[in-house]
Amino acid sequence: MKTKTAPNLGKPLSTHPRLLRWVQKMAALCEPKAIHWVDGSKREYDQLCAQLVAQGTFTKLNPKLWPGCFHARSDPGDVARVEERTFICSQSPEGAGPTNHWMEPAAMKQKLRQLFRGCMRGRTMFVLPFCMGPLDSPLAQIGVQLTDSPYVVVNMRTMARIGKPVFKLIDSQSRFVVPCMHSVGAPLKPGQKDVPWPCNPEKYIVHFPHTREIWSYGSGYGGNALLGKKCLALRIASVMARDEGWMAEHMLILGVEDPKGHKTYVAAAFPSACGKTNFAMLVLPEIFAREGWKVWTVGDDIAWLKPGADGRLYAINPEAGFFGVAPGTSEQTNPNAMAALRRNTIFTNVALTPEGGVWWEGMTAQPPAQCTDWQGRPWTPEIAKATGAKAAHPNSRFTAPASQCPVIDPRWQDPQGVPISAIVFGGRRATTLPLVYQSFNWSGGVYAGATMGSEMTAAAAGQLGAVRRDPMAMLPFCGYHMGDYFRHWLSMQRRLVETPRVFHVNWFRKDEQGNFLWPGFGENMRVLKWIVERVEGHARARETPLGWVPRYEDMDWRGLKFPRETFEQLQAFDRKAWRREILLHEELFLDLKTHLPKELVYERELLICRM
Ligand code: OXD
Ligand code: MN
Repeated sequence: MKTKTAPNLGKPLSTHPRLLRWVQKMAALCEPKAIHWVDGSKREYDQLCAQLVAQGTFTKLNPKLWPGCFHARSDPGDVARVEERTFICSQSPEGAGPTNHWMEPAAMKQKLRQLFRGCMRGRTMFVLPFCMGPLDSPLAQIGVQLTDSPYVVVNMRTMARIGKPVFKLIDSQSRFVVPCMHSVGAPLKPGQKDVPWPCNPEKYIVHFPHTREIWSYGSGYGGNALLGKKCLALRIASVMARDEGWMAEHMLILGVEDPKGHKTYVAAAFPSACGKTNFAMLVLPEIFAREGWKVWTVGDDIAWLKPGADGRLYAINPEAGFFGVAPGTSEQTNPNAMAALRRNTIFTNVALTPEGGVWWEGMTAQPPAQCTDWQGRPWTPEIAKATGAKAAHPNSRFTAPASQCPVIDPRWQDPQGVPISAIVFGGRRATTLPLVYQSFNWSGGVYAGATMGSEMTAAAAGQLGAVRRDPMAMLPFCGYHMGDYFRHWLSMQRRLVETPRVFHVNWFRKDEQGNFLWPGFGENMRVLKWIVERVEGHARARETPLGWVPRYEDMDWRGLKFPRETFEQLQAFDRKAWRREILLHEELFLDLKTHLPKELVYERELLICRM
């Protein structure tokens, strides 16, 4: 019988006794062939990228066209977050609520111990310390991810603050560290050749909110594997935030600067695929830019919001990079994202061009004459026409440093965060929801966020146009019962001297012929300007059953010929449609019944009365 030896700890970069003990214990479970303590240096990054190139995971892009960039192709079965395999293992099913998958924690732990036993054989285990938020921020949180994926390590170097400075924080401040276990679940037998993208068809993305632990098995992709992002910064952080009186939200943060140099910060929640990154990096209509208006990006996906000493809400972006969806990103739709991803970027599941560049649907009007698709197969526009094959996977991504964004806000790393004056909710709705309205007050705003919905895309067969409720865009990311989450939102008002004003927007309303009524993109600035002016007390509005709305003359139309009738259509309050809408709200409320705060029931009643 083979005797098991305790793996050598390698060269620990920490002296923290609990951390060392945990690494030792996990190494004994996973049996890696070596342990690498991640220092986070450029040298280490370059070495790991070279190793990924050598093993066929990475292709180095043409440095003349794409300096410092790499291309990766995942396994075709490992291309997105796996919500069906995502678990919130609170102590009781009540804790997770009906919108999360739950399993009894002890049973799940046992299952995980089975899965992780020997799962890193033949591989190196990386000890990857990371900090979500600026290192010197009181709002930041620390995690240590043990992973057998060098791809994860190099991506995390862009998405978070990692390495020696984080070990130093752990050692010097004995701060709480979120333990994050990750394995691709593909141990190697002696002499077995590795594949470019190791993974396992059996996947588990598991959160233990009570002990604040994360265990992820079987996937190397995105939110399943970069555990600082959705797992820590949303699911676990939402639980910490509830317990400690702050908020962890699926929100972008942007700053609007007026021509006098006054800045107003806005946080906005939209479900995936509703243009969050584009909105965060909005390019102004020319007339606004000429006048001296500017929009600055603080973050494009996650916001942590906490009451400051002055009783206002302050937000940080816990991330350090953008993990953006590539298809649809272009010089026209988002030149700032294009500038951010020009160098030092990792592209996953986009197409490779013969010159050693990358391409995706929507990047240029003219597709390349030929390229290699995301699965490594030849692709031409003719093949696409005949078979419908996509060059890039619809969920292909770029991992780009936030610091490379030309409109990154000078305060994006402010340890205290930026003061938030407005919160904006939005979804993709062809009907019913107007372009913009302002809720009457905080609890009305919480109702707007809680009942937010978005239409499903053609990908969900038979469901086209069906509205999925996605409260605050947090449906897949809330680490506890959604009803309690609403209660927490309501309770924030008592912690604040001044609440942000709350708005709802919908860029996607259509006319009877199915054409979008609103041009979107840069023109969204006109809505944003009204929002900012409302916050500052400069803009007028009209009262409707939903809330305050701009009249045609309250919007700044300079430089755009936009007919009054189209605006009226966009803002129309359709009583019949709202009847149906409110019944759909009730469906969500029934699901959450036992934990639903009564304020939301009253808000619904008030809305019905106003109608
Ligand atoms: C993301 C998502 O990757 O929301 O940001 O899915
Ligand atoms: Mn997101």
